[in-house]
Amino acid sequence: VARHTLPQVLSGQRVLISAGGTVEAIDPVRYISNRSSGKMGYALAQAASWLGGDVTLVSTTKALTEPAGVQVEYVQSARELHERMHHYFEQADIVIMAAAVSDYRAKNIASSKIKKSQQDTQVMQIDLEENPDILASLGAKKALDQVLIGFAAETDDVLDNARAKLRRKGADWIIANDVSDQSIGFNSDENQVTLISQDQEISLPRMRKEVVALEVFQTLFADCDERA
Ligand code: CTP
Ligand code: CA
Repeated sequence: VARHTLPQVLSGQRVLISAGGTVEAIDPVRYISNRSSGKMGYALAQAASWLGGDVTLVSTTKALTEPAGVQVEYVQSARELHERMHHYFEQADIVIMAAAVSDYRAKNIASSKIKKSQQDTQVMQIDLEENPDILASLGAKKALDQVLIGFAAETDDVLDNARAKLRRKGADWIIANDVSDQSIGFNSDENQVTLISQDQEISLPRMRKEVVALEVFQTLFADCDERA
């Protein structure tokens, strides 16, 4: 797909996207993270730029190529991501939380490497405390003309869980995907998603993440046209 072949439907729109799994330090050498590759968020950022949007991508991963024409910023922890998303939020027209945010972080980050010998039992405990829910906090601040989109990667009751997240977090859309199917999602180049809003549920076929991304913006535009 080349930029010039696509209608510039996002021209003049500021698009803010998070991508990747957050990284929560335990000590200088260890961390808590998750299996998110960041590919879906990067595909969304690239698609938004191809469609003419002014795109900022807040990413936890340096493993992927920066999408052409996109401003990329790097963060690690959920709290850093929270700060950056709120920093850009007010100026943004479309905001997509594609990042897999660690629900908990280590309560205390050790300043030196934790030694095995410090522990006198074979059970090791790390106290965790909850991270802020970034999507919900953006949902609470959202203006009427902003579009807020979250993800729900689920292994069970995919659509029910996604519908609950739509309500709970004040998002306009939740992009649900079933991650119990090991052949798609996470590090895969393909995804199969259902787009859920208050009054619509649109299941897309399994396809490359770049195409899923274009379909997401296509759907948003069909929705905005209908409301206009
Ligand atoms: N999310 C977020 N901040 C968090 C946790 C999640 O912004 N602390 C966002 C994710 O980026 C995603 C959406 O919320 O867009 C759903 O994430 P998910 O982990 O599925 O939701 P949780 O509310 O954490 O529920 P659970 O993990 O228990 O299923
Ligand atoms: Ca979670």
